[in-house]
Amino acid sequence: MQKFNTKNIVSKFDFTEYQASRAGSDNLDVLNPYNNELILSLTSDSLATTAEKIDRMDLYRKNETNLSITDRGYLLEKWYLKIMENKNSLGELIVLEQGKPLSEAISEVEYGGAFIKWYSEEGRRIKGDLLESPYLEREFLVRRQPVGLVATITPWNFPLAMFARKASAALAAGCSVITKPAEDTPLTTLAMLSLAREIGLKKEILDVVIVPRSRVSDIGKLLCTNKKISKISFTGSTTVGKQLVLQGAGNLQKFSLELGGNAPFIIREDCDLNLACDELILSKFRNAGQTCVCANRIFVNSRILNDFLPLFLDKVRTIKTGPGLDADAQMGPLINEEAATRYRALISDLRKSGANFVYQNEKSERGLIFAPTVAIASTTDTRAFYEEIFGPLAVIYKFESDEQAIKHSNATNYGLASYLFTDCRHAIKKYTKLLDFGIVCVNAGTFSNSVAPFGGLKESGMGREGGSYGLEEFLETKFISIK
Ligand code: SIN
Repeated sequence: MQKFNTKNIVSKFDFTEYQASRAGSDNLDVLNPYNNELILSLTSDSLATTAEKIDRMDLYRKNETNLSITDRGYLLEKWYLKIMENKNSLGELIVLEQGKPLSEAISEVEYGGAFIKWYSEEGRRIKGDLLESPYLEREFLVRRQPVGLVATITPWNFPLAMFARKASAALAAGCSVITKPAEDTPLTTLAMLSLAREIGLKKEILDVVIVPRSRVSDIGKLLCTNKKISKISFTGSTTVGKQLVLQGAGNLQKFSLELGGNAPFIIREDCDLNLACDELILSKFRNAGQTCVCANRIFVNSRILNDFLPLFLDKVRTIKTGPGLDADAQMGPLINEEAATRYRALISDLRKSGANFVYQNEKSERGLIFAPTVAIASTTDTRAFYEEIFGPLAVIYKFESDEQAIKHSNATNYGLASYLFTDCRHAIKKYTKLLDFGIVCVNAGTFSNSVAPFGGLKESGMGREGGSYGLEEFLETKFISIK
C-alpha cells in the first residue's frame, strides 16, 4: 500500500484545465470510495460552456477540417500506444476513483485499449456500394458517412473501457465526440484526454464536459436536444436511458443504448461443475458485482445442488476484500453510499422473502466494502430476481427442467447477457436459440471482447458496441442517384 499515494497517482496526468484552485459549490469533488477521501476537486461545465463546446466542434466539422481515414487510424493507433505506455498509472487512477482491485483495473485498461487498436484498423474498411442501376442513364451509389457530432455518456463501473469502446468507434467512423463521464469517475476520462492531446487529438474532435451532480439532468437534456449533436451513445441504467430517449424524442435524436442486465447463469446437471463454479466466481464477483453482465440469477439443476453448493462456497470463502491497491485484494468497495443503501435494501427484501443465507462473512465488511454473500432463494417474487443486484450477492434458484430454466431466465424485462453450463450439444442449440438475450455465453463466465457485438434485447437497450457492428452505429447510409 505504501508506494501508492493519491498525490503520486494523480500527478502522473495533466488535470490542470479542470483542477479547482479553491472550493466552490459548483465543483465536482471526486472521492475515493474506499475511504471517502477527496482525490481532486474539479471545476465543472455550465450549460453555457457545454453549448460553446458543441458550437466549436460543430463549426470545425462544417469547415471541412475533418481528418482523412489514414490520419484517424494513425491517431487512434498513437492514442492506443500512449495508453499502453501508461497502463499501470491509468490502472492506479481507476482504482483510486472506482475502487476495483488493481489487477482488474489494469485488465480494464487493456480491454479498453483493445477497442482503440481494433478501430484504428477497422476504420479503413468502411465501404459504400456502386449499385447496378435499372436506368442506363443513371448511376446509383451508396455512401457510408459519419453521423456527425456524437455525445457519449459513460458509466462509473468501467470508466476507461466504456469511454474507449464508444469514442474509438465513433472517431474511426469520422465522427467527433463530446463525452460526459460519470460524476463518480471523471478523472480516468480526463487522463485519457490528456494522453489524447499529447498525441495530437484536438479538442475540436474529442472533448469532455464535466458535470456536477446538481446539473446532470440539465446537461443530459441539453445533449439530447441540441440539434448539432447527431447521436447519443449512452451506457447506464434503463431508467436513465428511457429518460434520455424521451428528452431526445422532440428532434428524433438517434441513440445507442447499453442499459441494465439481469443475467441468468444456468448450470445444467451435465456440465463440468468445477469449471462452472470458477467461472461463476468471475462473473458474479468481478468489480464487486457491479457490471451489467454479472450473473444476477443463478439457476442450478436441483439434482446437482448438493454437489454444487460446497464446491462454490469453498471458492467464495477464498475471496479477499480490501482496498483495490492492496496486492491481495480481490474485491473492493461499492461505488458510493447511494449504491450501498440500495444494495442493503435488496438484501433485506431477500431475507424477508425467506431466502436461506448460506454464506456471509460480515467481518470482512468495512465502509462501502461488502462481503461476498450467497443465498438460496425460496421464491422468484423478490427484488433480487427482477432487478440488477449490482453488489456481491449470489442468489441461487433451483430448477427441474430445461423448459423451467428457460422460462425463468426470460421472465425479465432485461435481455443483455446470459450464461449456460452444459456438455450437451443439443442443450446448447436449444438454449442459445430460446434465451432472449443479446449475448449467450456457453461454458465461460466472461466474454467481453473488442471484436464482438456487445448489446442487449428488450429493455437492455438498442445498438451494439464492439467489432464492425459497433462501427455501424456511427455511420449513416446515403443513396446518391446521378444522371
Ligand atoms: C458493463 O457492465 O456495462 C460492461 C461490461 C463489459 O464490457 O464487460
